[in-house]
This record gives sequence, C-alpha cells and structure tokens, in this order.
Amino acid sequence: RIEPPKPLIVKEPEPEVDDGKQKVTIFFGTQTGTAEGFAKALAEEAKARYDKAVFKVVDMGKERGEWLQNMKYGVFGLGNRQYEHFNKVAKVVDDILTEQGAKRLVPVGLGDDDQCIEDDFAAWRELVWPELDQLLRDEGDATTVSTPYTAAVLEYRVVFHDSADAPLEDKNWSNANGHTVYDAQHPCRSNVAVRKELHTPASDRSCTHLEFDIAGTGLSYETGDHVGVYCENHDEVVEEALSLLGLSPDTYFSVHTDKEDGTPLGGSSLPPPFPPCTLRTALAQYADLLSSPKKSAVLALAAHASDPTEADRLRHLASPAGKDEYAQWMVASQRSLLEVMAEFPSAKPPLGVFFAAVAPRLQPRYYSISSSPRMAPSRIHVTCALVLDKTPTGRIHKGICSTWMKNSVPLEKSHDCSWAPIFVRQSNFKLPSDTNVPIIMIGPGTGLAPFRGFLQERLALKEAGAELGPSLLFFGCRNRQMDYIYEDELNNFVNSGALSELVVAFSREGPTKEYVQHKMMEKASDIWSLLSQGGYLYVCGDAKGMARDVHRTLHTICQEQGSLDSSKAESMVKNLQQTGRYLRDVW
Ligand code: 2AM
Repeated sequence: RIEPPKPLIVKEPEPEVDDGKQKVTIFFGTQTGTAEGFAKALAEEAKARYDKAVFKVVDMGKERGEWLQNMKYGVFGLGNRQYEHFNKVAKVVDDILTEQGAKRLVPVGLGDDDQCIEDDFAAWRELVWPELDQLLRDEGDATTVSTPYTAAVLEYRVVFHDSADAPLEDKNWSNANGHTVYDAQHPCRSNVAVRKELHTPASDRSCTHLEFDIAGTGLSYETGDHVGVYCENHDEVVEEALSLLGLSPDTYFSVHTDKEDGTPLGGSSLPPPFPPCTLRTALAQYADLLSSPKKSAVLALAAHASDPTEADRLRHLASPAGKDEYAQWMVASQRSLLEVMAEFPSAKPPLGVFFAAVAPRLQPRYYSISSSPRMAPSRIHVTCALVLDKTPTGRIHKGICSTWMKNSVPLEKSHDCSWAPIFVRQSNFKLPSDTNVPIIMIGPGTGLAPFRGFLQERLALKEAGAELGPSLLFFGCRNRQMDYIYEDELNNFVNSGALSELVVAFSREGPTKEYVQHKMMEKASDIWSLLSQGGYLYVCGDAKGMARDVHRTLHTICQEQGSLDSSKAESMVKNLQQTGRYLRDVW
C-alpha cells in the first residue's frame, strides 16, 4: 500500500535581498527519500546556475509562514498512476497556492513512478529554468545555463571491520526497552507466534494467516489500523546478489555519510546509513534487489563497468536517446536489478556505490490488520496473499514479504522462530463510535482482513453488553472448496450475532462470474435501507478492479432505489464520502 507521495515545492519568498542575493527555498516531503534526493539535486544544479540567489532545502514538516501572497512557485509531485489518487497532494497544493494569491511559474509536474519518474522530473526542470532565468539570472551566470546537468554518482564512505572488532548487528531494532513510540524509523522486533495456510490444498494459490506477538513490547494498535513489516529478501535472492557482486557474504562493513575527519561528504543527498553488519545481512535487510533500477542506478553501474561496451550500453539506456529502450527493456519487462547486473557482468560497483546509488532501500510492506485488540491485545494478525507472477522475461517474481510470511517459522513450531521489525500505522478505517449504527462491509479475497477485525470487535462489544446495529458483509472468493478463507469464523460471527448477514459471491463455481457487486445489486433495497438509517459503508481490497466496480454499483443502487438522476446519485455518494460514511481501504 502506497501512501500518497508528497509534493516538492519551489518558492521564492520575500523579494527582499540579503547581500544582493535572492532567496529560493526548495521544500520537500519525503517518505522513502526520493523527493529528498530530487530536492537536493535541484538545489545543487541551481546553485551552479545562479550566482544571484541563495538556495535552501527545507523539510516541509518544519516550515510555517505568511509568505503566500508574494510567492512565486512551482510544484512537482512524486506519484504513481497505479495509485487511486494519482498525485492528488501535488494537485491540491498547487491549487491552494494559486487560490491564495501565489504566482504559479510552471504547470504542476506529475511524476509517475510507474514509468520513469526521473524523466518526468527532468522534463519539469526544463520548464523551471527559463522561469528562474528571468528572475535570477545575471550576466555572469550565462555560461552555466546551457550546461546539461549530470548527477555525480553518490557514494558512501565504507569502513571494513575485522570480525574481532565488529560491532554487534541488529542493535537498532528496539525491544520493549527504550522506545515507547514505534514508527517506520523505530520498528519493534516481534516474533511470529502463529502461521497458517488459509487456502485448502485444492487451491493453486496461497494465503497466509500470520500472528505477530507484541506482548510486553509496548506496541499497540486499533481495529482497522495497518501494520508495516520489514521483511528480508529470500536466501536465493541474496545468494544471487552475492555472486553478482563477487564479494564474501561475511564482509563486515559500515557505511558513512561523512569523511574521515567528520565533514559531510559532497553531494549531500545520500540516503541515511544503516547499522554495521555483514554483507549478507545488508543484502537481505536493506537492498531492494528485485525492482527495476532507476536511470541514476543504471548510470552508477555504467561508471563501474570494466567492459567499455557494457558501460556504453548502460549509458545509452539512461540517456534521452535510450528512452524507448529503457521503457521497453527495463520498465515494461519488469527487469529486476539482479537481472540487469547479470546482463552486464562487468559492472561491479563497490559497496559504497552499490548501497548509495544502485540498490534502493528495501521498503516496509503495509497490511490491513485482521484482528481487533479487544480480542487479541497481544497479537497483530495479518492476512496475506502470496504474490507469485511470471514477468515478461520469464522470471518468476516472488513477492518479498508474502514469500517471507509463507515460509516463516512460528513460535508454535520452534523457539528459534521467525521475527520481523514491525510498526503500526494509524488509519481512518474505523467502526462508527455508536455501535447501533448499521454497517455494510465489502471485502472480497484478502479485502476481508479489516472486517475480520471489525467483527472481532463487535463480538467483544456484544459480549461486554453493547447493543449492536445491523451489519451486512459481502465476501467474494473463487470457490468454496479452495479459497473461502476464515469460513468457520464468519459463520460463528453470524451465529453469535456479531454479524447480521453474510453474503458470499463465488466467482468460479458456476458458469458465470459472480462478484460482490452482483450480490450488492441483489441486496440493493437492504443496502439502501441501511444507508437511509445513517449506515456506514466500507470497501477493502483491489482498487482498480473491484473497488471501482463497487463504487459504480453503489451509484446505481442510489439511483435506482432513491429514484435519483445520475448527478443527484453522484452527489449523494460524494456526500457519504465527505461525511466519512463511505470509507475505503484499497490498494
Ligand atoms: P476471479 O479471480 O474469479 O476473477 C477475490 O480475489 C475475489 O475477487 C475472486 O473471486 C475474484 O474473482 C474476485 N474479483 C476479481 N475481479 C473483481 C472485480 N473487478 N470486482 C469484484 N470481484 C472481483
């Protein structure tokens, strides 16, 4: 699940001048470090171009001020077209700034990480320079203007340790001691207590039920929250990387962003370092080895390819002339970093380059928690479908985290069980505070996860004496004999009164596909009646197919049941959304 990426803003605040210089501030908001890297690279290039201005790079969370009226600005957003709200934040920020009287210098840039976000950023920069030229250029700057910007390859300073003086690994993963607040930077080490396969042997797919033990850690969660999981690359992936790099797995090293004398390394956009460890650990825990390399990574490989033909071909791939080839050979073919390195065997970057510029940091994966703390206060349950696809090159892509979960060893089976650093991310996907309010839940496949949490919560509330309003759950799967996950539990929720009605669509049992939205049409008058009583409607699961179709169906139901015309039905659905009664947890 991807959070909406945050935009990058260039601003020129007060026109007032400090020692003859104008101020330009580059704001960024960053989650994985890409926006920060872009912001810093932009500042470096701008500094080289204009003598008349001072450039400042500021993390957006930290700046406030009354500068909108006199501001000239441009916004670049880092998004992904696969995401439901493509670059929504950038568009909103851009609109608001203009509404508030700031002057837009260039159209909002909509970076798309599904293709090549570096190209989008480069194209947007080309629009920015002529505007900044008018504001900031001096005669003395003229020569730098036409110089194309070529980013220097980023590199950490690396220190190798003997095993004797090697610092301890894993010391950054906190246990109960020390941290009271856990987040993505301070995850909590937690054991896998339980692992179960949810599909029957008849199914050719796999779905894992996993329980993380959080007893005594201080980590807590609410029903409907997400859990972020840092997993490790599979052993065979690590082995392949080791052989491609040609280095010993036991190489013990640390990476540093400063020089030996403590002064910062140039370039300044180095990602934050990770703790000292062996190369095997670094490859397992910190390196994204299976995504397609960015163009900057391709250039870093080119810089360290000993075979000149390979270096040329890599440079071409990352160049404007190689744009189509990059789009086809790299992005459309979903070539992984390891596949690229195998194709260019002479490219053997040193570790400082590999971890700074070639392999991005392995990011945590987010899952909707499938339990309620009222039922499972010391456990976080996850319901995770195995990702297993064949890419266009014939590579079998195994999802990193889902594969890790499927293969994990639970405490039930061994004291030497699997564990992962995890943290909780709050969500607004919550039950109504009044338990009498009716709820409608739509969650096929693993979209069921948060509703299992909701129903556990309702059962606990009921047992504690609360009165429950009506509830309706639409679940969908292929076949009762294969992938009807948590079937017994769902029936128990009905029998115990936590759930008023369970409606299941089996898509591959009969001659025609039956999906949750078809079942919704059959129950249209019930849905309409629950909504008319102030009910809430929740959707969880696949955003592009299911959630979109369910959204249309909801619109149709409002139209037909309420005898509304299309635009009235639309504003009704919008109103449900705006008042927080139509909530979606989709990806
Ligand atoms: P299918 O695989 O037979 O197409 C959980 O994944 C269930 O959601 C499956 O039964 C799957 O059916 C179904 N599904 C696939 N696409 C869907 C869509 N657009 N809307 C609703 N359900 C869908």
